[in-house]
Amino acid sequence: MKVDGIPYRSIWTEGDGRSVRIIDQTKLPHAFETLPLRTLEEAARAIETMQVRGAPCIGATAAYGVCLALAEDSSDEALEAALARLGRTRPTAVNLRWALEEMAAAVRNRPRAERVEAAYARAGAICEEDVEICRRIGAHGLTLIEAAAAKKGGGRVNVLTHCNAGWIACVDWGTALAPLYLAHDKGLDIHVWVDETRPRNQGAALTAWELGAHGVPHSIIVDNAGGHLMQHGEVDLCIVGTDRTTRTGDVANKIGTYLKALAAHDNGVPFYVALPHTTIDWTLRDGFAIPIEERAEAEVTALTGRDADGVVRTVTVSAPGSRARNFGFDVTPARLVTALVTERGIAPASEAGLLSLYPERADG
Ligand code: MRU
Repeated sequence: MKVDGIPYRSIWTEGDGRSVRIIDQTKLPHAFETLPLRTLEEAARAIETMQVRGAPCIGATAAYGVCLALAEDSSDEALEAALARLGRTRPTAVNLRWALEEMAAAVRNRPRAERVEAAYARAGAICEEDVEICRRIGAHGLTLIEAAAAKKGGGRVNVLTHCNAGWIACVDWGTALAPLYLAHDKGLDIHVWVDETRPRNQGAALTAWELGAHGVPHSIIVDNAGGHLMQHGEVDLCIVGTDRTTRTGDVANKIGTYLKALAAHDNGVPFYVALPHTTIDWTLRDGFAIPIEERAEAEVTALTGRDADGVVRTVTVSAPGSRARNFGFDVTPARLVTALVTERGIAPASEAGLLSLYPERADG
């Protein structure tokens, strides 16, 4: 997607094809800054501090983290240490594990002299595959928006989304936002309700920034407004991303997703989840077995924003001395999900539904 007319991806290589660069997502929307990743540790820290975030983007960054580690030391010990270090960065998004397994398979049985080249080749392919997957998710999801528009006789379609499942959460296009970009580009009249997504405000800061840059009409709402809007017929459908989906269709996504799904269910509003196959954890049947990340208290007790002078400041919003808990994700049971939108098509959120799209996973 474009930033100020220039095409960007969330992560890329430049020059010799070995230097890795990311968009520093912690600086958005106040500043657009790119950042080099020069070492394994820089890649791991970028994931931990959420300079890169979003399940597919985390996976892509981890893949390049393995490349950077091997470029310094291509021994078995260095490879295993890199896989372990990156694997500890964030617990919920299963794309991280998937990408590390892909990288291990690409280099483990090779002679040391071939490892760096093989690693960069696989990391680059992971990124290219993700772009194509997201484009396909967009094309399938577009049919849902078109159906909603037809139902309203061509009237405005109001879509609610939570967190950021856009192009910077992936490599390009996004998952939940890809259908919205395509719908807008096709001339459909859409408007997006953007949940602010406390505590880190991925909605207000990132989704709104992405949609605004692409010219998609949107309004930021507080996280608790969705139910009210649904009660008043102001939401035609919800579409969100996911960090890990079980083989039975339970969905872990940013904290607050479950409450939106409950409200959607109560109000008869379709609730869709968009995901690439890399976000499916075929080893799990029970969503409550998904590890839920708990992050620092300070993300809850403080807010960062730009003041009237344009200076970015962090201020405390909580009562002095109060403790906080910061659960990063929650689990929406499959029964509350209308359908899953994948690169292979749209299916019910169930094991049978997923296996109808991915029959090769029937045995595990
Ligand atoms: O904590 P984050 O910002 O990494 O959480 C991201 C989300 O919850 C996204 O909705 C999810 O990763 C899907 S991104 C295509």
